[in-house]
Amino acid sequence: SVLPVIMAGGSGTRLWPLSRAGYPKQFLVLTGETSLFQQAAERVAQLAGDDIAVEPPVVVGNAEHRFMVLEQLRELGMDSTAVVLEPSGRNTAPALTLAALQAREGGADPVLVVTPADQTVADSAAFRHALQNAVRGAADGSIVILGITPDRPETGYGYIRVSPGAKGSELATVAQFVEKPNLPTAERYLSEGGYYWNSGMFVLKASVWLKALQSFRPDILEATQASWDAKRADAKFVRPGKKEFEQVPAESVDYAVMERCPGSDFDIRMVPLAAGWNDLGAWDAVLQVSKKDAAGNATVGDVMLEDTRNTLVHASGRLVSTVGVDNLVVVETADAVLVADASRSQDVKKIVNKLSAHG
Ligand code: GDD
Ligand code: MG
Repeated sequence: SVLPVIMAGGSGTRLWPLSRAGYPKQFLVLTGETSLFQQAAERVAQLAGDDIAVEPPVVVGNAEHRFMVLEQLRELGMDSTAVVLEPSGRNTAPALTLAALQAREGGADPVLVVTPADQTVADSAAFRHALQNAVRGAADGSIVILGITPDRPETGYGYIRVSPGAKGSELATVAQFVEKPNLPTAERYLSEGGYYWNSGMFVLKASVWLKALQSFRPDILEATQASWDAKRADAKFVRPGKKEFEQVPAESVDYAVMERCPGSDFDIRMVPLAAGWNDLGAWDAVLQVSKKDAAGNATVGDVMLEDTRNTLVHASGRLVSTVGVDNLVVVETADAVLVADASRSQDVKKIVNKLSAHG
């Protein structure tokens, strides 16, 4: 069977001031009517098909957000298999390991459909088709990743090159995986062609993940196992040992395992995903996927615009108005207001870094 794993423990700093430590972006309603976390949960539940049974998800997130997770699942009328609570974030490799250990409880070995909780997907039929192919490949023991055709030299993503001849075909063999290359490298990949972005979704059996981690990063496996052995469970909440978990090396799935798979004993494949995928990393991406007026503006809340173009205005409490501006992001909250050039959205994290440096 298929066990969805939703990784919901990120901090989402580039969407400040809406996204905060206590209320990070995956739990915000940024597009449409549900939060990004809820959209991820619904997307993976819809994978069920004739030959594919889908269990309720395992959510791995920060202990601080446990009631938000429960409440948002409840709003969807969805159950969970478990909500694994990290005392602090150690990045995605330990998070996925906790989910895999949860999945292996009782000796089962489901196919894990691992998804980030901070993305939007426009075409759910195309998504379902690609993911179902990935599930079939993973049931045969492969590690399957989902590839997006790139349209710019984005340096915040992983890049995938598939074996020659296999381009575009379903379940192509991955020849190379490079996480977050520098700009010249990303530009070269784009001009050479044949590269895909990693969508951040991974499909693989729980046992395959544990074996791959054992082979590439036994230190992460051992430390995470120790915190799992010290866990406490109450109802759906599973709490790994705090002391032990804080000793786990912080590393992402991409660096710990995916980059090392091509050419190894592990069979790593890619399924192309052409489904209007978008990672809502920063405000410009939110503007891009939002419903816009004829002048390219997207607004939320009480907003009044005059001679304004290509601008995102998010008002949480007060009336916000703009006159004669172009290409701006304006986000108003109770205690902070952001005004930024939309093309500088990535740099919002510099403000957050300054704020946390000043306590
Ligand atoms: N439980 C848990 N614990 N979840 C986490 C943690 C953690 O410590 N850190 C991050 N996450 C969650 C985030 O909430 C997000 O949903 C997902 O894991 C991915 O983490 P990001 O921090 O957003 O990763 P990224 O965007 O830098 O890179 C990944 O995604 C890209 C596509 O969006 C990589 O997989 C890239 O290769 C990929 O291109
Ligand atoms: Mg991300």
